[in-house]
Amino acid sequence: MRLPRSVETADVAGRRVLVRADLNVPLEDGRVADDTRIRAAVPTLELLLEREAADVAVCSHLGRPKGPDPAFAMAPVAERLAELVPDARLRVLENTRFLPGETENDPGTARTLAEGMDLYVNDAFGSAHRAHASTEAVARILPAYAGLLLLAELEHLGRLLGDIERPFVLVAGGAKVEDKLGVLENLGGRADTVIVGGKMAEELRDGAKLPFSVELPSDVVAAASFDEEAESRVAPYDALPEGWLGLDIGPEARERFGELIRAAKTVFWNGPMGVFEWERFAAGTKAVAEAVAAVEGYTVVGGGDSVRAISALGLDDDVSWVSTGGGASLELLEGTELPGVAAIPTA
Ligand code: 3PG
Repeated sequence: MRLPRSVETADVAGRRVLVRADLNVPLEDGRVADDTRIRAAVPTLELLLEREAADVAVCSHLGRPKGPDPAFAMAPVAERLAELVPDARLRVLENTRFLPGETENDPGTARTLAEGMDLYVNDAFGSAHRAHASTEAVARILPAYAGLLLLAELEHLGRLLGDIERPFVLVAGGAKVEDKLGVLENLGGRADTVIVGGKMAEELRDGAKLPFSVELPSDVVAAASFDEEAESRVAPYDALPEGWLGLDIGPEARERFGELIRAAKTVFWNGPMGVFEWERFAAGTKAVAEAVAAVEGYTVVGGGDSVRAISALGLDDDVSWVSTGGGASLELLEGTELPGVAAIPTA
């Protein structure tokens, strides 16, 4: 794999550095609900400060606002980062998705971000599959380097592209279905078993086709409405009561998926099996997390929700690599170069 040049090779003393991090974290009641991605950004920021950068401006997107929206302001994230790295030279810019032209990869938007800065460091692995002004165009304006997290992610996920021990089990779930189906199509052939749960499984039941066979849940925990307190019952995956929703995989599926995962030598897991934030619908995601943690091979968990689930269960230390990227890690596994990486010169 082509590796971009490292921030460790940059001369940053006295320079003003623009850092693109992926600080797109879940918020609850206006507070950071899981700070994994913020903590993952710290080593690069500390390196820049130790090497006497004069100004470190960190930018990131947060959520998917369609323009300036106070619900997606960076303030809670900036507050948490300031607790982790208290340094007056460090500042957090406002949500990049408030900028017109960000998601269009507009060079003018990139020039605005680059203004007054000397260097650009991209450490946002989780956003490296997006060709946006803050991840791609800006790297063509300022001298660009890869951050420590971005490089570590490429190295660890790159292992799944080389010679892997088989069986290789791919577990996919989660909500960003449209983003992931296409990727899964290209990826499925590499895995010996593809397990699909969560919202993605519903899509497949309702007609979306994949060019290889997948293990779908035989049963689900169905609920009368999308509500934490809704009436619920276990139902066959393909015979839910009219108008009901599958909010978790059922007990039979938990067992089957668990068996398949435990037999693996290599696992990549992206996306929860249901609405695990609600205790009543968390058992499927928990079963998958525990099975992945029990595997004695190379195991990678990627994506905000799966990472949140695995850390909530205290199982982070039982997997080989916890990736901060969801869609980005899936796209990397397809074997295509990510735009945010391609824009940085090689070492
Ligand atoms: C993610 O959470 O996968 C990344 O931060 C990218 O977010 P996006 O899918 O809104 O671009």
